[in-house]
Amino acid sequence: MAYETINLEISDGVALITLNRPDALNALNSQLLGELATAVEDADASEKVRCIVITGSDKAFAAGADIKEMADKSFVDMYRNNFFWAETDRFLKTRKPIIAAVAGYALGGGCELAMMCDFIIAADSAKFGQPEINLGVIAGIGGTQRLTRFVGKSKSMEMHLTGRFMDAQEAERSGLVSRVVPAKKLKDEAMSAAHKIAEKSLLATMAVKDTVNRAYETTMAEGINYERRMFQSLFATEDQTEGMESYIEKREPQFRDK
Ligand code: HXC
Repeated sequence: MAYETINLEISDGVALITLNRPDALNALNSQLLGELATAVEDADASEKVRCIVITGSDKAFAAGADIKEMADKSFVDMYRNNFFWAETDRFLKTRKPIIAAVAGYALGGGCELAMMCDFIIAADSAKFGQPEINLGVIAGIGGTQRLTRFVGKSKSMEMHLTGRFMDAQEAERSGLVSRVVPAKKLKDEAMSAAHKIAEKSLLATMAVKDTVNRAYETTMAEGINYERRMFQSLFATEDQTEGMESYIEKREPQFRDK
């Protein structure tokens, strides 16, 4: 499929999706969100893809939902037509790991999109924020909930109430991003992490994603129980046998996703 607002490259088990609306700092309009949802769905279904990386430009991962597209919408447009959420719900169904590689602005829906990925690697130029308050609204695709889980109530509340931006160092300190790298190395670092993930058993990486996400959806006891069952289930796979045998035989594993 030919995309207009994103670029898609697939190599060595990794789908690299680059948001591509440079004139609008990758603002998320319905076309971009639709294309992004389709690209991740296709990557999720593709035998050629084992991990997904989403990135933007040096200046902006995404500067938020497209304000120009949104400005004239009514409550009915938003509620009845499910503007945005139909696409983000499709995105959230992805079962393969997704890394956000963020340089420059990740604001509003852009920050929320990064948080919908499984982890965030930030360039030292990254700036995160939820400035919707300046537009007379609030975050709408998970920001009030996810940012609060990641950085705690006080910082999340301050960011949503004042609209101030957080730089990469503060984001790392607060647990929003897994690590900060020099801007010039961002793509290489994210691709290298993705290639490392792509070498593992897909069954195990999907199980990690599913199980870690339980930590946000359920009680500790339920989550621990889910992890235990998932661990036990992986002993029904050939990849478990191969992984453990290869360790004992001091050789690299050959995972076959079976
Ligand atoms: C539409 C946007 C945009 C956005 C930038 N642009 N952000 N267009 N929606 N969110 C456009 C600008 O209008 C401009 O186009 C071009 O991109 C370059 O932006 P500048 O403002 O000239 O760049 P700069 O001075 O460097 O400032 C960068 C910026 C600023 C700080 C990121 O653009 C900004 O504050 N943007 C809005 C950030 C924001 O409020 N995001 C939250 C959106 S609400 P033209 O054609 O004018 O030159 C949201 C809700 C999510 O995300 C929930 C939805 C359910």
